[in-house]
Amino acid sequence: MSCVAETQRLAGASRAVNLRFAGFDFPGPGRENAELTAVAPHVDFGRAVVGKIVAGNWKMNGSAALTDDLLSRLRAGIPARFFQSGGACIVCPPFPYLPQAQRLLAGSSIALGAQDLHPGAAGAFTGEVSAPMLQDFGVSWCLVGHSERRHILGEADSFIRRKMEAVLEFGLRPILCVGETLSQRESGRQTQIIDQQLIAALVGLPESALGGLAVAYEPVWAIGTGHTATPGQVGEMHAHVRGWLRGHISQGFGQKVPLLYGGSVTPANAHDLLGQSDVDGVLVGGASLKADQFLGILSHAS
Ligand code: PGA
Repeated sequence: MSCVAETQRLAGASRAVNLRFAGFDFPGPGRENAELTAVAPHVDFGRAVVGKIVAGNWKMNGSAALTDDLLSRLRAGIPARFFQSGGACIVCPPFPYLPQAQRLLAGSSIALGAQDLHPGAAGAFTGEVSAPMLQDFGVSWCLVGHSERRHILGEADSFIRRKMEAVLEFGLRPILCVGETLSQRESGRQTQIIDQQLIAALVGLPESALGGLAVAYEPVWAIGTGHTATPGQVGEMHAHVRGWLRGHISQGFGQKVPLLYGGSVTPANAHDLLGQSDVDGVLVGGASLKADQFLGILSHAS
């Protein structure tokens, strides 16, 4: 199906979403046991992020001891000028460490994020975690569509779309992850793949619901491999994503949505990456587990 046809199909299919965002309760598949209440357009996302966003995705790594050590060091080590410049630092530990992280971060400006969620609010979904549960532990951001969930855990665009709706509906801030695999890039399809992922996740959602959105461009071939995309490749893809957002949501919206780069970000390459136009932040995996490295990245973002 062409991108245009897919856009039209999704715009039609998402009328339900528009209704819900207009204030109607409209349970969809998998939400039978859920009580849907929150409506994103009325959410106050608090302080605007006008500086850089530096987010740490711990993935399935860490321990209680690491959480204690890492978060204490981050609290003490992030320069005040980072927050004064309007920056946002987000840490996304595994679910079991969220309560501990919430305690350790109380009173600090470091925000708590989740790596994933289930689209439903509650119900018979063994092993899953919902947005209201995350909110009980102070989570304000959530990754949506990380490539490891797409490619290793087999999540389809349609499921990622439902997660996006849940995140917005419950007033969390989504970091929507998009990115092409190596073979998709080698066959020159990188922008087409990104467009498909953006269409599936966003088309038909009202701009008023998307105030908290950030998009992370994470080429799959750069994640955890040590092969960072070049600043030129990053600049090109970010310009493409921004252009898509301008064209499909609105000019003004596309202009201001924060765009993050992720894929083997380290203190050594953070300066060049963050210096690219259209790079408003970074999503960091491996280097977010070591305080000195994460702080090193943050020092380039102030
Ligand atoms: P990486 O992971 O920094 O270890 O490449 C990035 C990510 O997956 O978000």
